[in-house]
Amino acid sequence: MSDLSTSYMGLNLKNPIIAASSSLTSSLDGVKKCEDAGAGAVVLKSLFEEQITSDKNRMVGDMNFDAYTDAYDFFNAASTDYYLDEYLGLVEDAKKALSIPVIASVNCVSPGKWTDYAERFENIGADALELNMFILPSSTTTTGSEIEETYLKILTDINKNINIPVAVKIGYHFSGMGNFINRAAEMGANGIVLFNRFYKMDIDIDNLSLKAAPILSGPSEIHLALQWIALMSGEIPADFSAATGIHDAEGVIKHLLAGAKSVQLCSTLLKNGVNRITDIKTGMEKWMEKKGYEEISDFNGILSQENSSHPEAYERSQYIKSVVGIS
Ligand SMILES: Cc1cc2nc3c(=O)[nH]c(=O)nc-3n(C[C@H](O)[C@H](O)[C@H](O)COP(=O)(O)O)c2cc1C
Repeated sequence: MSDLSTSYMGLNLKNPIIAASSSLTSSLDGVKKCEDAGAGAVVLKSLFEEQITSDKNRMVGDMNFDAYTDAYDFFNAASTDYYLDEYLGLVEDAKKALSIPVIASVNCVSPGKWTDYAERFENIGADALELNMFILPSSTTTTGSEIEETYLKILTDINKNINIPVAVKIGYHFSGMGNFINRAAEMGANGIVLFNRFYKMDIDIDNLSLKAAPILSGPSEIHLALQWIALMSGEIPADFSAATGIHDAEGVIKHLLAGAKSVQLCSTLLKNGVNRITDIKTGMEKWMEKKGYEEISDFNGILSQENSSHPEAYERSQYIKSVVGIS
């Protein structure tokens, strides 16, 4: 019988499959189903920094506080507390009900006082915190370094306040990806999640309007994260968690071979139901038995760039004739 247990950011997982942050993990019922289906850990739906700020502003903005600054302070704090308390309640309930690690998640876009709240996640029992960082780099005046500094400031501010492991979940909009990941690890990120997949727009040419691009990923989207995890996993002193386009046992195995310590599933669970986790685990066990591997560590990272006798093959980006026979 194959042993699927592994460790991610110092957390002991009975297997490397994590239910990614999404609507599936926004309720106690949802995360319980993920555990029952065999997930190794869950990342709760993100608490959105922007949501706290904008809803709070709307609530406070509707009221006339000109003469009542005490009242402003009260409502300001009370509305922030409302969202936080609701989220902390979910963390607490999940911790009580589940035996697998529960990772809280915050969507962050700016440094600020809100980072002081991070310790409340730790105090309520979260096993780790995932920072879902995304600033769309569409501003024509903000530089890439400014955006990166913002991310790193959030990370260091949060790290000052907590002792549980912190993962940074990022998208692929970086011109200096390797450098950013390295700096994030140096500044205390215990985990790097590659990559988040964001809402994308499409255009309806009949109605001449915007529409949403497909919300769920397909298996062909696995390759971007696969390449980056293979490139970085042997070089960076942080654990990598793979995300986007992992729909089956083959996808999970590829990422483990590339060096990921865990994988995060979302689209395949939304599409096929959480029992997909059980099928994927069975597929992994069969493959390990066929290959004669008893434990994940027997093959984890063996196809990373660091362990390759042809490291240049991992960086081939444009001229692929020698690999697939077409140019
Ligand atoms: C409906 C939906 C909601 C999501 N909500 C969050 C979220 O709150 N926080 C987050 O970090 N990622 C969120 N994600 C991204 C997923 O966690 C995941 O990283 C992404 O979908 C790529 O994985 P996949 O290819 O398995 O779907 C969401 C994705 C979907 C489809």
